[in-house]
Amino acid sequence: MSKQNSGVLRREFLKTSAKAAAASAVAIAPMPHLFAGGDNTIRIALIGCGGRGTGATANALSVKSGPTKLVAMADVFEDRLSRSFKSLEHRFHKRMDVPADRQFLGFDAYRRAIDCLRPGDVAIFTTPPAFRWVHFQYAIQKGINVFMEKPVTVDGPTTRRMLRLAEESVKKNLKRWASD
Ligand SMILES: NC(=O)c1ccc[n+]([C@@H]2O[C@H](COP(=O)([O-])OP(=O)(O)OC[C@H]3O[C@@H](n4cnc5c(N)ncnc54)[C@H](O)[C@@H]3O)[C@@H](O)[C@H]2O)c1
Repeated sequence: MSKQNSGVLRREFLKTSAKAAAASAVAIAPMPHLFAGGDNTIRIALIGCGGRGTGATANALSVKSGPTKLVAMADVFEDRLSRSFKSLEHRFHKRMDVPADRQFLGFDAYRRAIDCLRPGDVAIFTTPPAFRWVHFQYAIQKGINVFMEKPVTVDGPTTRRMLRLAEESVKKNLKRWASD
């Protein structure tokens, strides 16, 4: 597939998955340069494997417009991750590639999951909102697009921090969606 066609597929995926998740409250600009390099598959990392994370990931793996694959999962509790994994694996076996060594636990699990992605891939942030800016900051550093569940902040200082990070992500031409 040509690079140009690959770019179109990515744009379609990102539009469709954003709609599926009833996106978007945070700025969405035109999507000129979305690519993950190499093959055309958009890799996904799920950070926060509760009800919303599992649901948002199911949406992302259901898009028909472009190949998507879940490649990493992160949570602080093993039972939450494993329940989410089983539920997704049951429905999306062919779109999952999350072996045990890409199932991460602990407060730095988000970093290790994001490290499994390539620039242009997508991280889904569905932990409680207190962690959102920390995870967003690392995703920007690594060139990763994000979908994040609302609320994305809980107080004035973190709201200002998130706005600054959003500006930074715009400068890097990264995309960010928040649910309605
Ligand atoms: N927009 C909406 O309509 C909507 C609906 C439901 C929930 N929410 C919001 O979405 C978020 C998630 O909701 P939920 O119902 O899935 O909650 P949940 O408790 O089921 O899931 C959150 C998961 O995040 C994990 N987690 C917590 N801290 C973490 C960290 N630092 N790193 C990695 N994982 C971590 C938890 O162990 C848990 O598995 C909440 O903030 C909630 O308010 C929004």
